[in-house]
Amino acid sequence: MGFKVAFKLKNILKQLSFNTFIPFFYPMMMLPLRGWRRKSIALLSFNAGDRVIIPGVGSGYDLPHIPVGVTVDGIDISEVMLAIARNKNRHRKQEITLHIMDGENLDFPDNTFDKAILDLFLTCVYDPVRAFSEIVRVVKPGGEILIYDHLISVPKWAAPFMSVIDVVMKYNFCTVIRVFDDVIKGQPVTVAREIKGDPFGFIKGFLLRKTSWIEAHQALR
Ligand SMILES: C[S@@+](CC[C@H](N)C(=O)[O-])C[C@H]1O[C@@H](n2cnc3c(N)ncnc32)[C@H](O)[C@@H]1O
Repeated sequence: MGFKVAFKLKNILKQLSFNTFIPFFYPMMMLPLRGWRRKSIALLSFNAGDRVIIPGVGSGYDLPHIPVGVTVDGIDISEVMLAIARNKNRHRKQEITLHIMDGENLDFPDNTFDKAILDLFLTCVYDPVRAFSEIVRVVKPGGEILIYDHLISVPKWAAPFMSVIDVVMKYNFCTVIRVFDDVIKGQPVTVAREIKGDPFGFIKGFLLRKTSWIEAHQALR
């Protein structure tokens, strides 16, 4: 696999972590979330022939929940996570293309995809506002975007403690202090549904819809 991602300082530690020790304990963390993840992905109304983008596809935990007949482009900065995803899904009768690519700079034209799945990605990527705007750019007007993540407001009393943890976590793995509204602010999307994504309500599933051509036109009048 050609290595196409320009090494950026902000991604170096994360690439290193996801290429070395994280793949070993990641399956243990994901096991309890399987059913919750499936429920969230089921919010999307898939049609045969849809093209779906999954930024930060990782080791491919979303892929078994996507119907055959839907084409998938998964992107990630970790070759090891992508290799695991490729191996796990080698027998799936589905068109899946896995790319080494930076989610903050997607190498796809505007309005390419019918749907996007952002599972535990916006809390991992360095700049979630930029990464989300890239997703909105490549999704077609009227297309669906699913976010499954722990984008929460931290209670005031916990903020100083969480900020310290975050300094270490955000460069290696994921951040714990990102807020949903801050990430989607100013983007042409509406939130259509919100569901619980784990037993504690720490993770949530959000179904968003990108503004259609007609809605955008009406808003201008
Ligand atoms: C917490 S994992 C989530 C993986 C998968 N979506 C899931 O739900 O299991 C986050 C993934 O995002 C990837 N990632 C982090 N920053 C990225 C970036 N700038 N562009 C693409 N992928 C990125 C990591 O390598 C990792 O595989």
